[in-house]
Formats: sequence, C-alpha cells, structure tokens
Amino acid sequence: LTVPRIRARKQDGVTTEPLVMLTAYTARQAQLLDAHCDLLLVGDSLGQVIYGLPSTIPVTLEMMANHGAAVVRGSYHSVVVVDMPFGSYEASPQQAFESAAYLLKQTGAAAVKLEGGAAMAPTIEFLNSRGIPVMGHVGLTPQAVNVLGGYGARGRSDAEAEKIVSDAKALDEAGAFAIVIEGVVEPIAIAATQAVSCPTIGIGASAQCDGQVLVTEDMLGMFERVPRFVKRYEDIAGVIDRTVAHYAKEVRSRAFPGEEQTYQPKD
Ligand code: KIV
Ligand code: NA
Repeated sequence: LTVPRIRARKQDGVTTEPLVMLTAYTARQAQLLDAHCDLLLVGDSLGQVIYGLPSTIPVTLEMMANHGAAVVRGSYHSVVVVDMPFGSYEASPQQAFESAAYLLKQTGAAAVKLEGGAAMAPTIEFLNSRGIPVMGHVGLTPQAVNVLGGYGARGRSDAEAEKIVSDAKALDEAGAFAIVIEGVVEPIAIAATQAVSCPTIGIGASAQCDGQVLVTEDMLGMFERVPRFVKRYEDIAGVIDRTVAHYAKEVRSRAFPGEEQTYQPKD
C-alpha cells in the first residue's frame, strides 16, 4: 500500500471500505498486525504504553526513530506512519521538516503524523511540498493536555465544535492525506468527516469516520483501565498472568525444564 492509495480510498466524499489502523511499536507486533491493517501507526502513545511515562510530552525523536525502524522492519504491506513527538515540530515549518526528514531517514516509514489545527496548516503544506506526506490529528490532542486540562471528549460547546471542523478543513486544504479525529462527540465527527476531502480516522469519534484506529495494547486487553471508546477484544493481560503463574509454579516444583527441553550428550 502507498500513501496516495490510502488517500484515494475516499472519493468524492465516499469511502466504500473503511481504513483499518492500529498502533505498533515493535517489529514482532508489526509482523502480527501487518496483513490485517491498511496503516500502522508508531504512536507517541508508546511513552505511556512502553515506557510508563505519565503523558506523551517527554517522548523524544530518538524513541520514535528507534521504534519506527523496528516497525518498518516488521511490516511489508501496511503504510507505516510515525508520530512527531512534542517539541519536534511546533516552532516552525523548518524545524518540522528537519525532524520529519530525520524520522523518515532513520525508519524508512512513509509518512509522519502531527497534532494540531489550523496553526499547523502551513507546516503540513511545507512538508508535503518537500516530499513528506503528513497525517493530521485534531480534537483531543494529547500533546496539548496541559492546555486542554485533561483527556475528556471535545466538541461539546458550539465554539469548540466549530473549531474542530474548521481545523480539519484547514489541514485538508493544506494537503494532509488523512486526519485522525480523537475524542469528539459524534455530530462533530460527522461534520468534520463531511467537511474534508481526505479520509478521517476516528478514535473515540464514532463509527462515522472513514476509518478507525486504536492503541493495540488497549484493544488486546493489556490494561485493566481503558477509555470508554476502547473495545477490549481479548484479555491478554489475563492470558499472560495465567501463563506466567504456570511457569513460576513449574520452576518452583522442578517440573520445568523436562526431558524434552534438556540436552543430553548423545541425542
Ligand atoms: O499515539 C497514538 O497512539 C495516537 C493514536 C491513538 C491516534 O496518536
Ligand atoms: Na499520538
């Protein structure tokens, strides 16, 4: 798959087959997800999910480059998109280009994603016209948690709702090939999706977007506490807990390793 083919999945406002995106942070994870997805996102959510950080704010370009390279090595089919971390792109289009070029060179990914509304439109245009496809991200933008004051759903006031739709429009006109809409009430997701020519990818933004994304660990059930918009498709934390308890029991009772796992001089 390529960025232009992702962009072309929405034609004249109609998307016949919704885009499937999940996050990936490691090579093996990418291998397991790749065939089922259209896009793999190396999200800066790795700050919390992999590194146990309190937010995405401390995530660095180096972290994104290392995990991005691993994910690209594990993927053959999906378009890999790498998040630009907080502080690596906001100052100017020039700063954004340097950071994005570094990420693409280090990883081999096809595109970057950055957060923000109309203020980021000139940056998206700058990158796009210099060979770097950009995915936008509006609504609940976690890197702005200190301005937003939390991770609650957006778009409940008229002013906020209008801004989300006009932000999405500005990114679309600047040439974003797709836009993530996160944590917004359904009418705003519908209005924003209808207002833009590129596909929208929802997370906590209803079924009305042109695609969906979730944090893979959230939907696999790696965490007990997840936002309301997450569907836990499995209980992987439970599977790991039971499996590790079994291993620990067998080590303590000397049931593991057995004959089959033991080398002998003649076999
Ligand atoms: O960092 C991330 O995982 C994201 C998605 C959830 C959209 O930005
Ligand atoms: Na992100």
